Amino acid sequence: MIVELPDLAAMERFGKALAEALRPGDVLALSGGLGAGKTTLARAVIAALGHTGEVPSPSFAIIQVYDPPTVRLPLVHADFYRLTRAEETDEIGLDDYREGAVLIAEWPEHAGGFAHEPGCLSIALETAGEGRRAIVEGGADWLGRMPR
Ligand SMILES: Nc1ncnc2c1ncn2[C@@H]1O[C@H](COP(=O)(O)OP(=O)(O)O)[C@@H](O)[C@H]1O
Ligand SMILES: [Mg+2]
Repeated sequence: MIVELPDLAAMERFGKALAEALRPGDVLALSGGLGAGKTTLARAVIAALGHTGEVPSPSFAIIQVYDPPTVRLPLVHADFYRLTRAEETDEIGLDDYREGAVLIAEWPEHAGGFAHEPGCLSIALETAGEGRRAIVEGGADWLGRMPR
């Protein structure tokens, strides 16, 4: 599925649609180069889940956790850019953070990738003129609830 995201308002709308579809255990795997819009989309999802404050980019901390009641679901926002080996996710304790939570992953390929998980929605962002385009592919758990 292809979603056209010509401006920031479209990004907000798409983030809201994603947030409404999310269930615990899901992964939003956001790929695309620097500036593709990964953090922008992650922020839109986190805000739509109820978070009102700032959403720091986790590029330094790698992992940022959001817990209810300020968000509808427990949420882990990760930026794996700085990982050099997928095994480093074990050292971080990623699986413990993910228990019962949604994972929003930037640079998922640096963490070994998540597309093999049925709850993974892979979102590849690319530039399209001034805006962006998303190529979206869902695992088996996403059948019938693909956001648009
Ligand atoms: N759909 C869009 N249309 C236009 N500009 C966008 C869109 N999405 C993101 N941007 C802009 O692109 C820039 C980089 O976005 P960012 O989310 O930080 O990228 P990434 O996390 O992939 O490196 C930001 O200035 C942001 O405002
Ligand atoms: Mg980013």
